[in-house]
Amino acid sequence: MTAMKGGMLGRHMRLLGVQFAPLRVPLERRLQTLAASLWFITFGFGNIIAGLVVLAILLYSYYLRWLLLPYLAWVWYDKDICERGGRRNMSTRSFIGWRYFREYFPLRLEKTVDLTPDRNYLFCVFPHGVLSAGAFGQFGNEFAPFRDMFPGLEPYVHTLHIHFITPFFRELVLGLGGCSASSKSINWVLGAPGVGRAGILIVGGAAESLHCRPGVYRVILSRRKGFVKIALKNGTPLVPVFSFGETNLYDQMHNPEGSLLRRFQEFVRRKTTVAPVIPIGRGYFQYSFGLVPRRSLVTTVVGPPVEVPKISDPTNEDVDKYHKLFQDSLTTLFEENKHKYIPNADNTFLEIE
Ligand SMILES: *[C@@H]1O[C@H](CO)[C@@H](O)[C@H](O)[C@H]1NC(C)=O
Repeated sequence: MTAMKGGMLGRHMRLLGVQFAPLRVPLERRLQTLAASLWFITFGFGNIIAGLVVLAILLYSYYLRWLLLPYLAWVWYDKDICERGGRRNMSTRSFIGWRYFREYFPLRLEKTVDLTPDRNYLFCVFPHGVLSAGAFGQFGNEFAPFRDMFPGLEPYVHTLHIHFITPFFRELVLGLGGCSASSKSINWVLGAPGVGRAGILIVGGAAESLHCRPGVYRVILSRRKGFVKIALKNGTPLVPVFSFGETNLYDQMHNPEGSLLRRFQEFVRRKTTVAPVIPIGRGYFQYSFGLVPRRSLVTTVVGPPVEVPKISDPTNEDVDKYHKLFQDSLTTLFEENKHKYIPNADNTFLEIE
């Protein structure tokens, strides 16, 4: 049996290889852990849970069914809102749980330049991580310093289109300021002249989450060019944004490329757009396994924008040119900041695929 370190009330206790949480934890920290775990369950399983609830009501509840049907009709009628900027709700964005969620890791936001609110921007966030805690924490609620740092800018968080089709869950994602990541939706956000909109796009998407491993910064960018084309059409600057520490929040079940598990995950992702990551975090009472993210600092750094000309019908050469400029500026942002925010920075490099 492994020796107990520091005793029952010490910082950690190990038993049979499992590292336990101390017994005496301040209420504040317990609430943070609760918020972080509920965040994961909500956004990791929101589509499935809401889908099952709808199915159960339709199949088993005679009375609720008649309330549900008009709601489903309304969802159908309302389905385009996610491609017209969404419908943010300040009470949803100000829900106190998001504050505890932010303080759990904690999440920090840093800027390298000021951005004037007389134009729109496309914030391109890397890496996706398992569930983009950094992007949600900084742009999807009102407890982030975003509005103080970038006065006049309004964030529009682009996320999977399927989230806006799922009944109930869609209302939450819309309330938080979410809208679809489709090109039509991004065009809508960037297309309005000079109103200080910041589209938030996690370019690598769900596919990148399958690469997520602690200490590894492997992003999908070379083959993602659509966002550059949309930026060119609107003359919108591309702002590189990097969340240092995002990949440390979870490990995931060993899934090297070509393995049976990885092929299955890619198959599900292609069919549903959602990547079935099997995350390994911590639990409520021990640190060795579970679905709760690890308590580990995430610093999201907003880099200097890459200016892009307005070209109504960009050629492939135009797209490649600005894609290359963006890729270089992302690498520069990573290299210039890694020593401040990650351990072992000398041996950590941004891998772009
Ligand atoms: C925002 O959400 C709250 C409850 O979550 C609701 O009471 C309120 O009416 C909503 N506001 C708007 C403008 O939709």
